Amino acid sequence: MPAADHLADHAAELLRDLPGHRREMFELRRERWWPDLSNGLRAVYPAEHAEALELRLLELACTAYRERDLELARLDLARMMRPDWLQHPAMVGYAAYAERFGGTLKGVGEHVGYLRELGVTYLHLLPLLEPRAGDSDGGYAVADYRRVRSDLGSVEDLRGLATLLRRQGISLVADLVLNHVAREHEWAAKARAGDPTYRGYFYLFEDRGLPDAFERTLPEVFPDFAPGSFSWDDEAQAWVWTTFNVFQWDVNWTNPDVFVEYAELILWLANLGVEVIRFDAIAFLWKRMGTSCQNQPEVHALTQALRALARIVCPAVAFKAEAIVGPADLLHYLGKGVYHGKVSDLAYHNSLMVQIWSMLAAGDVRLAAHALGSLLPAPSTTSWITYVRCHDDIGWAIDPADAAHVGLDGYAHQRFLSDYYVGAVAGSDGRGLVFQANPATGDRRISGTAATLAGVDAATTRGDDAATNRATARILLAYAIAYGWGGLPVIWSGDELAMTDDPHWAREQGHDKDNRWAHRPRLDWDLAERRHQPWTVTGEVFEGLAHLARTRAGLRHLHSSVTSDWRSWPARRLPEEHGITSAYDALGGVVVLPGDDGSLWLPPYAAWWLIEAP
Ligand code: GLC
Repeated sequence: MPAADHLADHAAELLRDLPGHRREMFELRRERWWPDLSNGLRAVYPAEHAEALELRLLELACTAYRERDLELARLDLARMMRPDWLQHPAMVGYAAYAERFGGTLKGVGEHVGYLRELGVTYLHLLPLLEPRAGDSDGGYAVADYRRVRSDLGSVEDLRGLATLLRRQGISLVADLVLNHVAREHEWAAKARAGDPTYRGYFYLFEDRGLPDAFERTLPEVFPDFAPGSFSWDDEAQAWVWTTFNVFQWDVNWTNPDVFVEYAELILWLANLGVEVIRFDAIAFLWKRMGTSCQNQPEVHALTQALRALARIVCPAVAFKAEAIVGPADLLHYLGKGVYHGKVSDLAYHNSLMVQIWSMLAAGDVRLAAHALGSLLPAPSTTSWITYVRCHDDIGWAIDPADAAHVGLDGYAHQRFLSDYYVGAVAGSDGRGLVFQANPATGDRRISGTAATLAGVDAATTRGDDAATNRATARILLAYAIAYGWGGLPVIWSGDELAMTDDPHWAREQGHDKDNRWAHRPRLDWDLAERRHQPWTVTGEVFEGLAHLARTRAGLRHLHSSVTSDWRSWPARRLPEEHGITSAYDALGGVVVLPGDDGSLWLPPYAAWWLIEAP
């Protein structure tokens, strides 16, 4: 590690013309967070690279710190004094495609009043940066990270929108696609032209040897329209690692230059005023032969290093991990064990979302109660994103062991859920669409808006008022769970008006094979005009969600890190993780015993300091 005072001197030199208090602030934060940065890098890169890398990152950090404007620098200080800002019960999120919600970035700014009616304090606009032409996987195939999508506006418009939102109490959330770039991105173009530097940014293979070996353990992400994880590219004369679509080239994070590129992009977005960065497909960043190439420990070490860098330059900024993975892997993205408090602040509670739809279909809470009850709580400094659905499909992530515990066959239950939500079960009003049927595994994921899945289309088409009321109630119940679970609830655009699937989704260029577009409708502003009409589905749902937000904001019980409930903790983790065989509470001076369920039950607001019994 470069000597600390050497780094301090270098930083002081780079920041020499800043006022003393700003230099001091940088130095204090660098002292506090540099060890995390350094350790994260060293867990991943060979020591001989790490030293040079640290110097490059220090220079990046100083440049970005100098350029950070004063309003954002003030926000940094404010957030350092309120590190639980994302956990506050007044937080409510909204997610939308900018063009489908407001047309342009400026247009989005004109709808702040609408968002405030819903209590929104967090706005996630889906990919904003310049994608490839044609099919771009909804913007997740970025051709130029430094340009805003030309149809949405300019980089200055983005800065303007972030500022406008911030001044009205709304934090802007933006995507950073870390796992891949568009085939048209400059890095990929240079790699195809044979530039060895840029060939080193990707995974390129001359023959099928390694790809075939990797494929043996790789799951299919898009089995239907993009089978396999490698694509032959004639120009590159190589098999390219393409986890998602052929036109999305996975970048190679074993290359420290790649790390620096993304570090710079994070600081750039932060200085534009983006307050939460959503790391798209983060689970896939590190590849390891013989594994699914998801959730590898290096992903967390890389995140730790990036997080530390951001904490030094722009502590107001939070990280959100988009990891749609099984319950056991999920918690690591919020920081377990050595990563506690060091990685992302937010992660999607995919299991909760799945269980909400499962409960509604089965009319039974046993599976949900068991599956959700056995999840470990999220680390106290972090928060779940709780949601009913998002812009992606719903995959039935039901753990077969959880299902077996309540007497269900997990696979049969998944089949039931797919059938239920396409309306193939008697009595079901779900009218979703099958996404990515995989004949090899029998897996069928589902697309659909909350209203369509809850039965609004089917009921209104039949003119069946009782069924319409039931569908409305299902939407409100689903959202009430998301708002009350403990976490940051996010509404997916259109759900607040009970908008149903877009019947014309396939007509748009590049969308016809991807029915996720059915549930990404353009917001219907005519319908929105009628959002205050009572006794309509739209009126009931809009007012219902606004009411949930208002009520939530006043309930300190819903702060995501504190609860007035009993909390359980699996006693087996004491020997497994802490080497303690009996749980002695040093504060109370007594041994605490697990309940019949094997959990230690902590009373509301109680504190235990558990040690081996003396
Ligand atoms: C994420 C996005 C999804 C996209 C994928 C590839 O999962 O949410 O829409 O297809 O990443 O970028």
